[in-house]
Amino acid sequence: MKVLITGGTGYIGSHTVVELIDNKNDLIILDNLSNSSVDVLDGIKKITGKKPYFIKLDLTDTKATNDFFDNNTDIEAIIHFAAYKAVNESVENPLMYYKNNLISLMNILTNMNKHDIRNLVFSSSCTVYGQPDKNNLPVTENSPIKKANSPYGNTKQISEDIIIDTLSANKNLKAIFLRYFNPIGAHKSSFIGELPLGVPNNLVPFITQTAIGIRKQLNVFGGDYNTPDGTAIRDYINVVDLAKAHVIAINRLINNKNKSQYEIFNLGTGKGVSVLEAIKAFEKSTKVKLNYKIVDRRPGDIEQVWADTSYANSELGWKAETSLEDTMLSAWNWEKYIRNKK
Ligand code: UD1
Repeated sequence: MKVLITGGTGYIGSHTVVELIDNKNDLIILDNLSNSSVDVLDGIKKITGKKPYFIKLDLTDTKATNDFFDNNTDIEAIIHFAAYKAVNESVENPLMYYKNNLISLMNILTNMNKHDIRNLVFSSSCTVYGQPDKNNLPVTENSPIKKANSPYGNTKQISEDIIIDTLSANKNLKAIFLRYFNPIGAHKSSFIGELPLGVPNNLVPFITQTAIGIRKQLNVFGGDYNTPDGTAIRDYINVVDLAKAHVIAINRLINNKNKSQYEIFNLGTGKGVSVLEAIKAFEKSTKVKLNYKIVDRRPGDIEQVWADTSYANSELGWKAETSLEDTMLSAWNWEKYIRNKK
């Protein structure tokens, strides 16, 4: 029986594929390659010695998706990564986000019902918590779900609801929601990593591109937040550590070790890090000086959020292990690797 990885050539997906292959899971990868490249499969092969079975498919194409499931009846579990994830873009083009992220999920759930595929791990996000109240930091899985601050965030909230409703109508289905904090870094081999198209929105790709000279200056968005150094705080989690949690989650479902029909886990380090601290960690581990400047806040950004990960630690036996410095170094090695390759 196989595990289906949607979005398996993407950033978190590709790192998870490597960990699943190492764990001897048999896989199928689906991706529409809208934000990734087939070359990622070569990177996965270099690391694991195996090129995973890949099909290019757009999950919003209902007929093609149904045909895929009709022709692949040996799937027992799905990790659903495939989604758009850029906050700004979702504000500019909300329908693109609702259409892509929700229709693909509904097509998957329809086929889980039809083909009796019982196990789903869903890529959720800390964005569902919005800006938590100060007395709710760090956030636990029971912290209030606030109104989403972007259509992207809203698709994650709605997706969780769609899954919960589907599960309540079909008691055979089980799901685990993994709420990621801020995934960063790359595989230590440098054969896979994050590959943003165009100007990066996220902090770490912007840092590495500034360090290598593609960007002139890193803008630090906001120096007047109500935080110890005035810059915003996030929980930056190493992408390989994050990937390992997916292996545990999918095997937990396959082996019926889940404690309820759906379970939610925060995946972070449990430590809040400011933008300036992230910059310092990069400079310290790479010995490269960054040209940065504190500028105005970025609209829509929240001030601070970090995870209480005790539930994932105790229940999944999972813990973030890689230090921020080592993670920054992995991101830097990856940036150098891709630029030298070109
Ligand atoms: C957001 C979402 C997250 C989503 C991610 C995907 C929240 C809490 N988080 O992460 O769910 O998966 O986008 O894009 O909604 N920064 C700079 N300069 C830069 C870039 C970023 O100072 O050039 C700062 C930001 O202001 C922020 C921090 O770095 O304080 C992290 O930003 P980023 O990497 O974009 O992630 P989030 O916005 O936290």
